[in-house]
Amino acid sequence: MSTRERVLQALIEAAERGVSGQEIAEALGVSRTAIAKHVAALEAEGYVIEAARGRGYRLVAGPIDATPAGVRPLINSRFWTSVLGGWETGSTNDDARRLAQEGASEGTVVVAASQSAGRGRLGRTWSSPEGGAYLSVILRPAVSVLQASSLPLALGVAVARAFAKLGVASRLKWPNDVLLAEGKVAGVLVEMAAEADLVDWLVAGIGMNVSRGAGNDEARAAYLSDVAAGLTPAVVSAAVLDEVAAVYDEWKSGGFGVLAGEYGEWHSLSGQQVVVRDAMGRVSASGRVVGVDADGRLLLDDGAGAIQRVAAGEVTLRQP
Ligand code: BTN
Repeated sequence: MSTRERVLQALIEAAERGVSGQEIAEALGVSRTAIAKHVAALEAEGYVIEAARGRGYRLVAGPIDATPAGVRPLINSRFWTSVLGGWETGSTNDDARRLAQEGASEGTVVVAASQSAGRGRLGRTWSSPEGGAYLSVILRPAVSVLQASSLPLALGVAVARAFAKLGVASRLKWPNDVLLAEGKVAGVLVEMAAEADLVDWLVAGIGMNVSRGAGNDEARAAYLSDVAAGLTPAVVSAAVLDEVAAVYDEWKSGGFGVLAGEYGEWHSLSGQQVVVRDAMGRVSASGRVVGVDADGRLLLDDGAGAIQRVAAGEVTLRQP
């Protein structure tokens, strides 16, 4: 931990009581002037710090954006060992991939307040202006590529759980879109590298629409701030990271099978007649959605007694 992080830690621990510059200086073995400089730098990062005579410093609020400074203090899970990133980047997935290739450990997170080249599934762009939350995590599960294919669905469950804890009732759309009413509020993009069919690293990127704003008003998108007040990108990112850590643990020990039932409860397509199309737009399957299996495949009842298992494709409701 850097000295600045330790100063922040001291302020967080002191909470409402506050702590004097002298006390922090003695605890860290640096001068009071150095502490004052670190406090000023934290304020420049967006922390609101009150300096009252006799009470010392008191941390009033953290930055609201999904920057490391904003997100790190709000994470409860101890799984995330390193939170990197900044105000703006091309794509947090690209940054995390680079770090993973360089050997970064599982539990590394990259966050950003905005992205200039955010990527979605199927080569789409992910519009990423300020006001949203963009994060990518590095995972290194000891599983095969096939076993890893259900992780994106598990992460959808994590996002839905986190949103529920924040007071937002969302639904999932197979494989891992997160919806509010008909609009998409969040998406998950998982990329990986493998050797001899065993996963080496896996980068899971999650993009979330938090508040509408300039350049942040996509027609078919939904925003958390439409249905819940007071949610900031930092709060949302930290809540999602906590649930991702919990779900990842469940998935590692029990496989997706232990989450499939819950996935079905969040699933907006349960019981619906749907059509699945491949990347060329050709219909590859159709039927009534009856669940997902332990590998995360969509289960369709074709109406003639057969269940089809769908591993990939774009799903839409069948028009009457
Ligand atoms: C989707 O198509 O639904 C997935 C969208 C994933 C977007 C996130 S934002 C953080 C991370 N960085 C990216 O470039 N993409 C993912």
